[in-house]
Amino acid sequence: MRDFTGEQIAQVDNADPFAAPVWRSPVHRTPEWIIWLVQLIRLLVRVIWFLIRHPLLDAAAGVVIVTWAEAGWPGVVVLVNVTVAALVTLRLWRPDWYARLVTVPLRCRWRWLVYRRRWQAVMAISGLAPLYRGRVTLPVLGKVQAGPCADLVTVRLVSGQSPQAFADRAEQLAHGFGVRSCRIRTARPGVVVLELVRRDALAAVIPALPVPAVPDLRALPVGRREDGGLFTIRLHGTHLLIAGATGAGKGSYLWGLVRAMLPAMASGLVRVHACDPKLMELAFGRAMFEKFGKYAADPADIADLLEADVSDMQARAVRFAGRQRDHQPTTEHPFVVVLVDEVAFLTAYQADRKLKERILAALATLTTQGRAVGYCVVAALQDPRKEVLNIRNLFPDKIALRLDEPAQADLVLGDGARDRGARCDEIPADPATGAGVGYVRLETDPDPVRVRASFVTDDDIGAMTAMVTDPAGEFVPAAGEAG
Ligand SMILES: Nc1ncnc2c1ncn2[C@@H]1O[C@H](COP(=O)(O)OP(=O)(O)O)[C@@H](O)[C@H]1O
Ligand SMILES: [Mg+2]
Repeated sequence: MRDFTGEQIAQVDNADPFAAPVWRSPVHRTPEWIIWLVQLIRLLVRVIWFLIRHPLLDAAAGVVIVTWAEAGWPGVVVLVNVTVAALVTLRLWRPDWYARLVTVPLRCRWRWLVYRRRWQAVMAISGLAPLYRGRVTLPVLGKVQAGPCADLVTVRLVSGQSPQAFADRAEQLAHGFGVRSCRIRTARPGVVVLELVRRDALAAVIPALPVPAVPDLRALPVGRREDGGLFTIRLHGTHLLIAGATGAGKGSYLWGLVRAMLPAMASGLVRVHACDPKLMELAFGRAMFEKFGKYAADPADIADLLEADVSDMQARAVRFAGRQRDHQPTTEHPFVVVLVDEVAFLTAYQADRKLKERILAALATLTTQGRAVGYCVVAALQDPRKEVLNIRNLFPDKIALRLDEPAQADLVLGDGARDRGARCDEIPADPATGAGVGYVRLETDPDPVRVRASFVTDDDIGAMTAMVTDPAGEFVPAAGEAG
């Protein structure tokens, strides 16, 4: 006890015998050398731990030190120059290797440091760091995969936390980490992946994609995904609904699909039946549709066209019944794509009740029975309000482009789509940056993916028409177009 100084007496002296006792905890002063020793040991442990965890850095430092010891400063200068030269050579010779070995790891490391620096504050302030037994528990920052435009950040949840808690605070997270937007993807139980978008990968107009030499009806290329990959649409065995406000770029999806199927149209494996009630969109390709399918613009003609398709489809179903469960397109029984632009114009807004009912009935029959026998309906819709969307459930696949109100994204893509990142109302109205941008739910993933259709210009459509309606009748993909 002699080593300690300070107040040893726990009860405060009080002259008054009736006063309530006042207690004060005794103070023990730790000798300075113990503090130094403990801090030194902690530092040492941290340095050793750092060295163990960064073997590459250790090796590099080792090489520099050995060179310096053996050859002095000139040796180090030579070493640095050789390294730089090697990196430059690699960059020029194999840019893909350079990206994989240098750019990507460095970028991931850098982004990890950025998130790590702000992690605690952002989690605590946005309310994602709950208190447990009086202590703050933080979700664990895991791997950071940094892409050119977006980062995928793996987060281990605090026990008892739900991914929804993150989804509800997506906006706080985005602002907290200084990125444009944040989407939540569920990975495994107990783990979420934050998709933090640093810059809009789809801000630039994508020129029309090359016409594939052999179209795959299960994967028709029409644009790009936000992660840079090709965005392909499946038509075989499904139906597709494209919803978007006026000027959202629905046309570029319809034309993108036609473009991707062009060689199959020319060879007779695919027929396109175009219904164009507004006479605005598909009229450009009228010659093409009339040669490799049908074209109708007047609502009465459209009703006739759809009803003819229904009876053909039923005849085909009878023929194939019990023989074939999956339709393979042949020239005798081609794959039929019914394109309907502005479908609400034919259904919800159609003044003629009889016509409207005929069209609705035909669409419902085609969509419910056509999948297995090679009939596919692709419909574009401007106004996704409930009454218009009576037909929505007939379409297994949906794409939501720019929409006027936040709630409409859920109407098109299903409940919770907007919370999971389908912010259709935030797509820019400026055609240069926003037309053709939309969200889809891919088969493999419940989370919506942001995509942009390539822009098929009037000139492209003209070239396509010329390509397939050539008097010689031979379809030859141009040299650069194949692929
Ligand atoms: N994928 C796209 N990329 C860039 N601009 C586009 C794209 N699609 C359409 N646009 C532009 O946006 C405008 C509106 O497109 P449109 O297809 O007519 O919209 P909607 O049919 O949805 O009303 C077009 O005039 C065109 O210039
Ligand atoms: Mg249109």
